[in-house]
Amino acid sequence: MKLHEFDRYPLTFGPSPVHHLGRLSQHLRGAQVWAKREDVSSGLAYGGNKVRKLEYIVPDAIASGADTLVSIGGYQSNHTRQVAAVAAHLGMKCRLVQEKWVPWEDPVNDKVGNILLSRMMGADSRLDPAGFDIGIRDSWKDALREVEESGGTPYAIPAGASEHKYGGLGFANWAFEVADQEKALGVFFDTIVVCTVTGSTHAGMIAGFAALEELTGVKRRVLGIDASATLEKTRDQVARIARHTAELIEVGRDIRDDEIQVLEGWAGDLYGIPVESTMNAIAMGAQLEAMITDPVYEGKSLAGLIDLVKDKDIPADSNVLYAHLGGQQAVNAYHRLWDPSA
Ligand SMILES: Cc1ncc(COP(=O)(O)O)c(C=O)c1O
Repeated sequence: MKLHEFDRYPLTFGPSPVHHLGRLSQHLRGAQVWAKREDVSSGLAYGGNKVRKLEYIVPDAIASGADTLVSIGGYQSNHTRQVAAVAAHLGMKCRLVQEKWVPWEDPVNDKVGNILLSRMMGADSRLDPAGFDIGIRDSWKDALREVEESGGTPYAIPAGASEHKYGGLGFANWAFEVADQEKALGVFFDTIVVCTVTGSTHAGMIAGFAALEELTGVKRRVLGIDASATLEKTRDQVARIARHTAELIEVGRDIRDDEIQVLEGWAGDLYGIPVESTMNAIAMGAQLEAMITDPVYEGKSLAGLIDLVKDKDIPADSNVLYAHLGGQQAVNAYHRLWDPSA
């Protein structure tokens, strides 16, 4: 099937906005930097990249006859907040496993931000002490079984909606959306920079741009900035999902190794813990553009973009598109990073 033949349940306002980051570009004295904003493209609990993925997963959930969406993430998972939002929007129940993915000892880390919003939207959100892992977890399988045992019909959505058969479709479609927006704006983005952890955002883009390359012959670089700090797992997952998605949407060829670029250098030592480059990038985005990024994901990918542009790894005559995937809700759980009295 071609991408446009897959069912898509609308959860966004439409194409996410694209805009020039003029002051950041001027400051970096290199490529022109633009942003495409998944953080402001849905009315469902502040949106984010998972809403876009879920547009292609919801039709399958509805067809399955499920009454409960079951998913998993860290205490401050943006993904589980978006699953809770979509469940509320559809009139379904939601069961969430929230693991202690980040050793961040802020006393409100498991109480404010994303988790607060999930609870507000009626999700049954339960804490689990297990640490970070992007793979399939027993705690999630247990939650699925519990829903069934209590008479419900669960629908399984893995971490980040990534290891789902349709997990890559949302961002494959993002690629086609970019191509349409380029025509309207009269600009060509030769380089895309995106944060990657569970992998299907980046993987979907790779598959989508590969499909476009087959149609138009035009190549671009889709650079994933690792924020997992478990690089090999994320790289494998990106490659696997990109190839699966490319097959699903009938790209007509395999994904080449050079299309899978997950870059290291900005994740720090641990998932969820910001480092100096993260904090500098967050400050730069906020102070030059009032573009708010978070210490777990987008601050790290913005740090990558800043260095790649400054060092001319992305050439000065490039137009680079920064995929802003959301995540600001977590900043409340990291308040001491900006609290002068802490
Ligand atoms: C704000 C934000 N940015 C980036 C990512 C990474 O996306 P993915 O898990 O699809 O690699 C996530 C989720 O994991 C996220 O919530």
